[in-house]
Amino acid sequence: MAQMTVTPWEVRGAIDYDRLIEIFGVKPLTDDLVKLTEKIAGENHLFLRRRVFYAHRDYDVFLKRYTEGGAVALYTGRGPSSRVHLGHLVPWIFTKWLQERLGLELYFQLTDDEKFLYHREYSLEHTNSMAYENLLDLIALGFDPSKTHVIVDSDDIALLYKIAVRVAKKITASVVKSVFGFTDSTNIGMYFFPSLQIAMCFLPSELRREVVLVLIPAAIDQDPYWRVARDIATSLGYPKPAQIHSKFLPGLGPEGKMSSSKPETAIYTTDPPEQVYRKIMNAFTSGQPTAAMQRKLGGNPDRCPVFAYYAMLFEEDDKKLEERYHRCRNGELLCGECKRELAERVAKFIEEHQRRRGKAKDIVESFLLRTKIRSRR
Ligand code: TYM
Repeated sequence: MAQMTVTPWEVRGAIDYDRLIEIFGVKPLTDDLVKLTEKIAGENHLFLRRRVFYAHRDYDVFLKRYTEGGAVALYTGRGPSSRVHLGHLVPWIFTKWLQERLGLELYFQLTDDEKFLYHREYSLEHTNSMAYENLLDLIALGFDPSKTHVIVDSDDIALLYKIAVRVAKKITASVVKSVFGFTDSTNIGMYFFPSLQIAMCFLPSELRREVVLVLIPAAIDQDPYWRVARDIATSLGYPKPAQIHSKFLPGLGPEGKMSSSKPETAIYTTDPPEQVYRKIMNAFTSGQPTAAMQRKLGGNPDRCPVFAYYAMLFEEDDKKLEERYHRCRNGELLCGECKRELAERVAKFIEEHQRRRGKAKDIVESFLLRTKIRSRR
């Protein structure tokens, strides 16, 4: 089994989520916090009850401030290296639910600069155009334009720069070397970049001219940024940002997260539905090599990406999910059938998403923070 690596740019190996809680120094999401969220939101979310979101920092503080009527907001983002895949939708779907249920403003950052600086092969024109492509996926999920404020780093730097230089002055090269693993051959753009992802935590406070506590829903790979952000926040007069961390939607291969760096194991939102179907039918499963052996020995849903897709996104009903689990374990359910059902559900989801994505083009402007600021002047 490959050794586990989890950084903002690379996730490899079998992921031990409990161990990540220890390594990153975050807290597990407790039953009490899940119940409190349900009470506030007025409904339950499968991401919480199944612990797809499973760890946090100061989520309790965030909820308390929210219930007391204090200023709070949501912040999340995307590094637009290429097309959006299903994994990226996990934090966004949850963010949208929080926006809707709690009536919150969302600040969304597209870091085209980060992906240009990190990937040798990408031009800035490429990552910048991907930013606007990726934005269509965000819009397709149904975020409220009046409450969703998007910035594209290379086009909107004026909005962030004054905060970013103050942030940058607080962070030494030795900190980013140890937190992000940068070396002497890492370009200096990357050394500065974390100050932009961190600055965005404080932008709501600047724009609203009050102390705004942000909650960041994201997968746990982004945690290194928040560790640094929290270390310097108070010295700059801002509250420490809170986080709620998700697990990764796995790729269609034997291990690792769904990742753009492994396109054959990723389902992109813009894949034709037939291709989605084919990719899932070719997916790795935890089943036995033959149907006869599967009937005799059963499969291992705990280590199966196909089962994970049902558990994380494509089976709402807890009872049905449990039945699927047991039918797999005891050899009643064969992998072909399980994959076929999933392929149908995912292809349908993708088709619907593409329909909404097509319409999103007409309303992009209404999500851009720069457009809103200009029209207020
Ligand atoms: P990026 O583009 O790598 O990822 C975008 C968001 O998707 C999450 N993610 C996943 N979640 C579940 N399963 C997966 N397989 C999976 N792969 C990626 C990431 O955790 C992230 O939440 N530097 C950032 C861009 C950014 C950002 C932010 C992200 C700027 N500000 C604030 C989160 C919050 C990036 O490259 O994300």
